[in-house]
Amino acid sequence: MTRFICAYNEDEVKSYLSTIRADIDSILVSYAQFDNDCPERLASAMRYSLLAPGKRFRPTLATLALELCGGSREKIAPVAVALEATHTYSLIHDDLPCMDDDDLRRGRPTCHRQFDEATAVLAGDALQAWAFDLLSSRIEDEAIAARCVKELARAIGPSGMVGGQMDDIISSNGSCPHVACFDSDRTLDTDPTASSYDLLAKIHRRKTGALILCSLKIGALLGGASTTVLSTLCEYGRLLGQAFQIGDDLLDAVGEQANLGKRVQKDNEHGKLTYVSLFGVDKTRALLASISEQIKDALSDVAQVFDVQGCAFKAAYYMADYVVRRDR
Ligand code: IPE
Ligand code: IPE
Ligand code: MG
Ligand code: MG
Ligand code: MG
Repeated sequence: MTRFICAYNEDEVKSYLSTIRADIDSILVSYAQFDNDCPERLASAMRYSLLAPGKRFRPTLATLALELCGGSREKIAPVAVALEATHTYSLIHDDLPCMDDDDLRRGRPTCHRQFDEATAVLAGDALQAWAFDLLSSRIEDEAIAARCVKELARAIGPSGMVGGQMDDIISSNGSCPHVACFDSDRTLDTDPTASSYDLLAKIHRRKTGALILCSLKIGALLGGASTTVLSTLCEYGRLLGQAFQIGDDLLDAVGEQANLGKRVQKDNEHGKLTYVSLFGVDKTRALLASISEQIKDALSDVAQVFDVQGCAFKAAYYMADYVVRRDR
C-alpha cells in the first residue's frame, strides 16, 4: 500500500491549534470555580497550578479526536477540564520533595513551594477527584460518561500512570536522596541491557503514554467513534505518547529552562532511567525521528477513515513533527 503523505500548511495548522488552545484556556477559567465548602487555600492552589501556562497537550488531543470523528467542539468542555486537571494533579505530585523534588513548573514556583507540601498534596488529590466528578456529571450521554470514567481510571491507576510513576521512582539509581531507600537492581552504569530498555518503555507507556492515549480515546468517544475507529487511533496514540516522553527526556538533557519553564538536567542528577541515560543524546534523537515516521505511518494506515482535508487530520499529522521539534 502506498504511504499517504499529508502536505499540511504549518501556519494553517498552528492557527487551528491556537483556536483550540484559546478555547481550552477560557474553559479552564470558567470551570475552575469551587463552592464555599472548598477552603479558599485549596481552591487557590488548584487554580494556581491548573491555570498556569501549560501546553494543554492532552485536552488538545481530545479536541482533535473529537473533531476527527465529526463531533462538535462545544462538547469538549468537561473532558478538556478533566484531562488537564488530572495532568496537573500528576505534575503537582511529581514535583513534591518525595518525588522529583522540583521547585519550578510552568515558569512558576511549584505548588508546594508557592503554598506548602500538605496543600500541594491535597490540591492534587482534589484535582483528581474533581476530574471524575466532571466526567460523571457533565457529559450528557450517560453511557459515554461511564465509559470515559472507566478509561480515565484505568489510564491513571495502579497499572497506568501511577504504576509508571512508582517504577520511575524505583528505577532511579539511588542518587536521589528521596528514593535512596529503594534497593535498585539496575545496572545501567555498565551496559544498556535489553531489560533496562524494556523497563524504560514500560515506564513511559504508563507514566505518560496512558493519559495521552486516553485523551484521544475520550475525545473520539465523545465524537461518537465506533469501536473500529477507536482502535484505529490506538496505535497513533501509543506512539505519540512514547514520543512525547522521549522528547521530555531529551529536553531535560539539552533543552533550556527559559523555554521549558522547569529545571533542566534533573534526570541525570536524580539517576533517572531515561532514553538519554541509556542511549545518549544522538541515538535518542534518531529514535525519536524514527518514531515520528511511525506516527505518520499509523495515520497513513487510517487515512481512509477520516477527512484528510480537514484541519483535525492535518493537525494530528503535524503532531508527528511537533513531538520531534518541540522546545518546550
Ligand atoms: C510534562 O508534561 C510531564 C510529562 C508527562 C512529560 P507537559 O510537557 O505536557 O507539561 P505542561 O502541561 O506543558 O506543563
Ligand atoms: C512526569 O515525568 C510524568 C508524570 C507527571 C506522570 P517527568 O518527571 O519526566 O516530568 P517532568 O520532566 O518533571 O515534567
Ligand atoms: Mg517524574
Ligand atoms: Mg518530574
Ligand atoms: Mg522529565
